[in-house]
Amino acid sequence: MGKERIGILGGTFNPLHEGHIAMARAALEKCSLDRLLFLPDSVPPHKTGIAPALDRWRMVVAATAFEPRFEPCRMELERTGTTYTYDTLTALRAAYPKAELCYLIGTDTLMELHHWYRWQEVLKLCTFLVCPRTTQYSVEQLLEQRRMLISLGASFQDVEMPVVNVSSTELRQAIAEDTPTDLLSPVEREYIGLCGMYGTQARIQRHEEWLSRLFSDLNAKRFAHTLGVAYTARQLAILHHVDQQKAEVAALLHDCAKCLPLKEMQRIAEEHQLTSDESLKSSGALLHALVGSHMAREVYGVTDRDILQAIACHTTGKAEMSPLDMVVYLADKIEPTRTAYPLLHKVRMIAPLSLEKAVCATMKGSASHVRDTGKKPHPDTLAAINWLEERIAQS
Ligand SMILES: [Fe+2]
Ligand SMILES: [Fe+2]
Repeated sequence: MGKERIGILGGTFNPLHEGHIAMARAALEKCSLDRLLFLPDSVPPHKTGIAPALDRWRMVVAATAFEPRFEPCRMELERTGTTYTYDTLTALRAAYPKAELCYLIGTDTLMELHHWYRWQEVLKLCTFLVCPRTTQYSVEQLLEQRRMLISLGASFQDVEMPVVNVSSTELRQAIAEDTPTDLLSPVEREYIGLCGMYGTQARIQRHEEWLSRLFSDLNAKRFAHTLGVAYTARQLAILHHVDQQKAEVAALLHDCAKCLPLKEMQRIAEEHQLTSDESLKSSGALLHALVGSHMAREVYGVTDRDILQAIACHTTGKAEMSPLDMVVYLADKIEPTRTAYPLLHKVRMIAPLSLEKAVCATMKGSASHVRDTGKKPHPDTLAAINWLEERIAQS
């Protein structure tokens, strides 16, 4: 087996955008990397216009959770004072002595390398993966510079991909003006909207406390999923004239208990007499909804009964679901980070048109999946399907 190849993508990530993801993805695939580290910079406190490190970090974690070979790394964030690439690479070399370090740069950076701190040593610490970017320099100038650096021991590999020219300033402007953009992942867009970053108004009052708790209680994928569900629930709420804030809060907290061990869920359910239903008690996949609703009230301080009910029934559904219940149920099943399942595309198409039809199709799909595994669907799910079918027939 050859050396492990580790890609390194550093940046302020203010915020991490699809241009960064495209570079990372292309490097991973075209340059046969085993993994790719995302290193957000720490930024001096006096620098304005840059989001707090904590928020940039959480967004990097959420936006990279879908690819197991992407690895957010806190090394730069832990450092104080000026950070040089030389220090980063030296520390990474010590952490991964047997790996080949591959540092991602844009074509424009090539012309600046010889101004870097201890640049001649930097050249020998890594292979540079060069991503195409529009630059003011001619092809001759770039080649000349490259030849000079190679003669001093540098090695380069070109990343074959379309030119990436994303302006973070323009992206932040689009966020502030609430214009749609495909340069930002829905999970980051949701995080930004919840907290009121980059000139937007915070949509959730207790966002600091809630996001901090969710980030520590959930794993990266679940945290990203949670943001995806909140994003989708808000969109569905707008389309179907459901209370947007209730939908967003319920969605944000719907899986707050999901990463607890089953024994802990059972202890909470027992202590607070949440259910006597043995089929719920024995399954973490179902029980986390009831425990989550309990935690939303006791830990997060939510008192709204509609929100608590939407959280409580998001796994099984039930007869007479409210439109809010349906929005949360559905958002959970179709949010953008969901891995594909047979009905996903169809349900995403139906969801903007009819909550009832979309929820019914999803429930029937999951009931038949449960039957395929030799088990019985939960009675509440069957009751929900019957109730929905009747409503659809009458409409
Ligand atoms: Fe859930
Ligand atoms: Fe969920």
